[in-house]
Amino acid sequence: MTKSSGRLKRILIALTLAIVAVPATAVGAGVWLYAAADVSTVGRVEFANPLAVPPLADSTVDKDGTRVFDLEMQPGHKEFTAGQQTPTWGFSGDYLGPTLRAERGEQVRVKVRNSLDEASTVHWHGMHLPATMDGGPHQMVNAGDNWQPHWEVDQPAATLWYHPHPHGATEKHVQRGLAGMFILDDDKAAELPLPKTYGVDDLPLIVQDVKFEGAQFDHGHRTMANTGFLGDTTMVNGTLAPYREVGDERVRLRLLNASTARSYDFGFDDDRGFSLIATDGGLLEGPVTLDRIKLSPGERAEIVVEVHPGERTVLRSYASPDSDFWQDRFGGNDDSFDILELRAAKALRSSPELSDELVGPAGPEVPDGSDPVRERSFDLRMSGINGEPMAMDRIDASVTRGTTEVWTLRNRDGMPHNFHVHDVQFRVLEVDGERPPPELRGPKDTVYVPGSRTVKIALRFDGPADPDTPYMYHCHLLYHEDGGMMGQFVVVEPGQKAGKPPVGSDHDHR
Ligand code: C2O
Ligand code: CU
Ligand code: CU
Repeated sequence: MTKSSGRLKRILIALTLAIVAVPATAVGAGVWLYAAADVSTVGRVEFANPLAVPPLADSTVDKDGTRVFDLEMQPGHKEFTAGQQTPTWGFSGDYLGPTLRAERGEQVRVKVRNSLDEASTVHWHGMHLPATMDGGPHQMVNAGDNWQPHWEVDQPAATLWYHPHPHGATEKHVQRGLAGMFILDDDKAAELPLPKTYGVDDLPLIVQDVKFEGAQFDHGHRTMANTGFLGDTTMVNGTLAPYREVGDERVRLRLLNASTARSYDFGFDDDRGFSLIATDGGLLEGPVTLDRIKLSPGERAEIVVEVHPGERTVLRSYASPDSDFWQDRFGGNDDSFDILELRAAKALRSSPELSDELVGPAGPEVPDGSDPVRERSFDLRMSGINGEPMAMDRIDASVTRGTTEVWTLRNRDGMPHNFHVHDVQFRVLEVDGERPPPELRGPKDTVYVPGSRTVKIALRFDGPADPDTPYMYHCHLLYHEDGGMMGQFVVVEPGQKAGKPPVGSDHDHR
């Protein structure tokens, strides 16, 4: 039986049961809601707007060699559609933010200024750094205040990102436009034959789903969408219906799912293969040829795609059901989108062939999980992780600096969740007891855990220790995170006890 006829059969059975059990009007309403719930822009996007590319952030280098960035959280307006001024928030601009870029081994400092009229934070998603610099809910920056986190970049080349993390309001702050990329470089990656000219053959793609009500964003949740906000169209880097002219044979696309609830299953309209070269935390052992890459909220993937002179090809997000049919339909997995059109020039510059090795046989710098000091399990439910909703004054786990742990993540709801851990890049050891697929074999900081799936990960905590300041782990479907699907862990020295998070003092301005 094909997948779709199986689905159809399940739907018919469920509808039949429903007809037996409930009055006809309720069934009618259910059928109508079900039928109306999926959204597709495939074949209907005009690709009328040139893709915006976020500028590289300016930086200065201090006397002591620290690279210093400025980032201002500010309200603004943006014309997503000609003649319509949409109220927005942005970092040092009207919507989204500049791309920060630094090298492994560098000291960086970001001068964050909050010019909004409410408190927020800036979190460095995927970055290994001290807990006080993390920008989670314990590092609130009040309206009008400054915050200057600083750290040493001590991890491989990767596509990371930054966004606010105020407890209970993250969805709203990200939706209004607060998000940007943070690219890390290292010497080894710099020598690889990869497309690497930013904004030319190396493109950041910040993908979000949106909905407009006139000129305003409509952030309302759809009926029965328990995953959170689901838009009816998508934009890339803040551009609706985007196209991009390409002048090189091979283009590197740094895909970031910056949507608050929606997962995408990216591929091209002609199903061409592409090379996956990196996951959340950096390069794979070697490129892997795929024709789809699924990214849940917060995840990244770097892919290299080949284009032919004069052609057009569309980056698409395909429907990819993976839970029960009801969850798939109302959670957005049945939706499909035309995301971005690539328009290849008539004459293309030649690009180097990809090499078979990226980081090579030693593999990515993530623990192999063979020597865990401890195993833990996390039961994922929308109402809370391991049965408890997030509490700012409760430390849920303390881990010892310099040790590796194995965590088992179990989705206990039918609805999709994912799991993100601050400060570390982890290795996915198993998905439902099996070796993970290639796209989950690189360094990860966020992993999709749909339906009743179980995922095992290995994480190593290198510190520094700080028993009083927690890092977060949470579902990155922001509606779930805001609702309490989050927990806190501290990194301690061997034998040290967890302290107390400084609650009430929401103002850590170190
Ligand atoms: Cu991207 Cu705790 O988040
Ligand atoms: Cu994070
Ligand atoms: Cu969730």
